[in-house]
Amino acid sequence: MNTKAWSGRFKEEIDTFLEDFTESVSFDYVLAPYEIRASLAYAKALRKAQILTEEELKVIEQGLRDIEREIREGTFSFRKEQEDVHMNIERALFEKIGEVAYKLHTGRSRNEQVVTDLRLYLADEAEELKNLIKSFIKAIVEKGEAYIDVIMPGFTHLQHAQPVLFTHWLTTYAEAMTCHLDRIIEWEKRLKLCPLGSSAFAGTGFPIDRDFLAKELGFLAPIPHSIYAVSSRDFSLELLFILSLIMLDLSRFSEELILWLSPEFGFIDLPDRLCTGSSIMPQKKNPDSAELIRGKASIVLGNLMQHLILLKNLPLSYNRDLQEDKPPLFQALKITKASLRMATLLVEGLQPKKERLKEITKEGYLLATEVADYLVTKGIPFRQAHHLTGQIVRYAEENNRKLEDLTLEEYKRFSPLIEKDIYQWLTLEHALFRRNILGGTGKKAVRAYLKKLRKNLRLWEK
Ligand code: ARG
Repeated sequence: MNTKAWSGRFKEEIDTFLEDFTESVSFDYVLAPYEIRASLAYAKALRKAQILTEEELKVIEQGLRDIEREIREGTFSFRKEQEDVHMNIERALFEKIGEVAYKLHTGRSRNEQVVTDLRLYLADEAEELKNLIKSFIKAIVEKGEAYIDVIMPGFTHLQHAQPVLFTHWLTTYAEAMTCHLDRIIEWEKRLKLCPLGSSAFAGTGFPIDRDFLAKELGFLAPIPHSIYAVSSRDFSLELLFILSLIMLDLSRFSEELILWLSPEFGFIDLPDRLCTGSSIMPQKKNPDSAELIRGKASIVLGNLMQHLILLKNLPLSYNRDLQEDKPPLFQALKITKASLRMATLLVEGLQPKKERLKEITKEGYLLATEVADYLVTKGIPFRQAHHLTGQIVRYAEENNRKLEDLTLEEYKRFSPLIEKDIYQWLTLEHALFRRNILGGTGKKAVRAYLKKLRKNLRLWEK
């Protein structure tokens, strides 16, 4: 006999190729623990609605718990013939406790089950994700504190621009991740809403207590619209967007490490344990770890796009297309979590090369803005000061000199307003000191920012 739950209206067995083509248990089996939790709650709701007797509820609960244990111990066998995680568990329950198992499906639909499971699953994933982000930020704080004295060139257009503290550069990624953390917390408010009671899409015809179900499963509230509940995947898309942002930042961080590690920059070093070699060139020490984060980011951005396209033009309410929501979501989560771990190791391992940075910060006229700002303090409007300084830099460049090496007499040729005190302005330390504004690269400001991060870390630990 055909063992499909829906076989009643069918005259023949399902085509075996179609069976393979439509199954989802090969990937949605990860939802099994959540399917059990949701089913336990639903059984209680059925009892409250007088659909199950106390005895039936007990039998169902026991059966579900047995299955839960088998899943936990890895002895449960998921079968493709049972299509998806929901049918697999329903079938297993029937095999354990008989007909009463089927009562659990009263007024309930897989269309609501799948989104309920997915929302519960993502709530757990969110916890893991938040912890990984916090660890990454913590590694940055520790590294930033250890190298607070190191100055490096800051870039715009990948050209030397102004000096910054190494710590100021590095903590950029802590700020970005703090924003992503906030995004996750915001998103959780929309994630933790309960679809159960929506049934196939029109709302269940039985007096199910939706508030009770939401509470029982740790959701904030029931979703107030049944068609929306089964048709929307906003919650997955929003997470995929956040994951994309995280990967985007990790890819930029990786790109910088790769550049900084090349001898042309030579700003940092990485420990051997975080690099790999070449099978032909014996001298090579490659930052494959960072390159792979950069490479894997493309997969996650693709996952977001793939999922967006899945929803485009899809009519309401549930369509089987929606089964394809899970592979990109699961893949993106797996990659992002692994990349956060890898990036944390990279932060922990990276070391600025102080000598080289000392050398390189002398190059590239990093202090040109200081000259312009100096002229402003002498009453010259900034645009003119900028122009004048440009001429000074050109002169210095043509004569192969540094700004701090030009004589006062040379400076005076550009403006008689320039005095001896200009030389006080022509040190990296002075340039940094002037930027002790909130969020700036002055050491005081950077220390204050680190302190703020430390405070966040302490709050997050509570
Ligand atoms: N495996 C399905 C999914 O992931 C579950 C819902 C199936 N619903 C249905 N009416 N066939 O979307």
